[in-house]
Amino acid sequence: MDRRKFIKSVAASAAAVSMPCFSIAKSRNANEKINVAFVGVGGIGAMSLGGLKNDCADSVNFAALCDVDTKYSAGNVKKFAPDAPFFTDYRQMLDKMGKDIDAVCVSTPDHSHFKIAMDAMECGKHVAVQKPLAHNVWQVRQLAKARKYYGKQQTVMMNQGHATDQIRLLKEWADSGVCGDFSEVHVMCGGPNWKSIYFKKPASYPFGKEDVPSNLSWDLWINQGKFTDYNSIYHPLTWRSFWDYGTGMLGDWFCHTGDAPVWILDLKDPVSVELVSAKTNFDPKVFIPDSSIVKWTFPKTDKRPECVMYWYDGGQEPLTRPHDFDEGRKLPTAGMFMIGSKHTIETGVRPNFNPCMTNTAFFKEFKRNMPPKTIPRIPRGSLYREWIDAIKGDGPECGSNFGYAAQLTEVALLGCLAQRFGGKIEWDAENMSAKNRSELNAFIKEPERSGWESKAI
Ligand SMILES: NC(=O)c1ccc[n+]([C@@H]2O[C@H](COP(=O)([O-])OP(=O)(O)OC[C@H]3O[C@@H](n4cnc5c(N)ncnc54)[C@H](O)[C@@H]3O)[C@@H](O)[C@H]2O)c1
Repeated sequence: MDRRKFIKSVAASAAAVSMPCFSIAKSRNANEKINVAFVGVGGIGAMSLGGLKNDCADSVNFAALCDVDTKYSAGNVKKFAPDAPFFTDYRQMLDKMGKDIDAVCVSTPDHSHFKIAMDAMECGKHVAVQKPLAHNVWQVRQLAKARKYYGKQQTVMMNQGHATDQIRLLKEWADSGVCGDFSEVHVMCGGPNWKSIYFKKPASYPFGKEDVPSNLSWDLWINQGKFTDYNSIYHPLTWRSFWDYGTGMLGDWFCHTGDAPVWILDLKDPVSVELVSAKTNFDPKVFIPDSSIVKWTFPKTDKRPECVMYWYDGGQEPLTRPHDFDEGRKLPTAGMFMIGSKHTIETGVRPNFNPCMTNTAFFKEFKRNMPPKTIPRIPRGSLYREWIDAIKGDGPECGSNFGYAAQLTEVALLGCLAQRFGGKIEWDAENMSAKNRSELNAFIKEPERSGWESKAI
């Protein structure tokens, strides 16, 4: 990658560039702390600040914080790192403090994950990014390539469940063969809850322009996404309702609830993804649905038969009642079933929530003689510890590194395309294209805003 060009593009748009940002993370002695910078600290950024503080206090310094909203982020700045240098533009942060930052933790809205993560990797930083990894299929594949291209930098997507003991337990159960072959998966999530803080519907659409508050840099918030005039319906949190910036319930939750089946059954490169049904008001190409059912078909591999997977949001019951489901029990509208030819594995909305065999009598018997624990566990089941240990060379690469994270997120993003554009998409994974729907190309790789373009690896 052409570093000179990168610096030039940063310099063109970010003021006061004083040093090249690409100081590769320096070599360190075993006791030296990892200097972590945080981009996006106002919302769930608090979880990564808290997670690193609780699980890795002995190993990290909070080197710098960055947020485009000085008011929304103020509470977390005060709580976690009141004395750390604060920036509103992450490009200036990387330029000014490049030498003093080893790793960057990105907790911004979905549409800006890619550019921030890529720029940080270009600057030689280890990177942790919130889920979903990015906003379109091309971006997740680029980040998967970046992991290999940069080689030594440790990457992780922050789907916390992937570091837990429970998801390992589920894989050991499935791999033992006790459930038989898996050919059907159901992933259910309750929302969107339009009364919650996360989603908002306008009284009517289209809606107007509002004045940008003085505490917010709207241009930086947009990042490389589609430019839209400011309206308070977007920020904070409720950007989730709009496809241009968020990815709806599916993008929000699939990387948790669908993590176990994607990992265990190696679900990738579906031959098709289809919107089975949906309810929406306003324009479905702009707004996420109120409820939907999506179906993917994954081809047979040498380890399992062809597998279909269904996603449900909006409080719908799964279309299939597992053959071994307890008599009289109501089907859940949130959770996950991996239906095996002999037995069904079930979890709550995260892989570490209530992992069990769906049939109560069988599970009781199974627990008396569980398969041996063969998959190494992560200290404290903590993704933060896993990432920092990998950076320090004290542990292996994270399980949800950008290679696996891209696989998991791509499945979710293909489902989002079906939710947004309807019908059936025949997916050509090798050529990254919808065989029967060329009009979707502009969403498989979205246009990048002028001045914010990235260079393909
Ligand atoms: N892992 C989890 O369990 C979990 C839970 C909730 C949210 N998330 C993910 O975290 C991300 C953020 O979600 P949220 O609910 O915190 O949203 P939010 O809108 O509440 O917070 C985003 C923060 O990032 C800041 N920001 C936006 N653009 C920025 C930019 N370009 N540079 C610097 N700061 C910027 C905002 O001002 C705000 O402080 C999303 O991708 C979401 O899916 C993950």
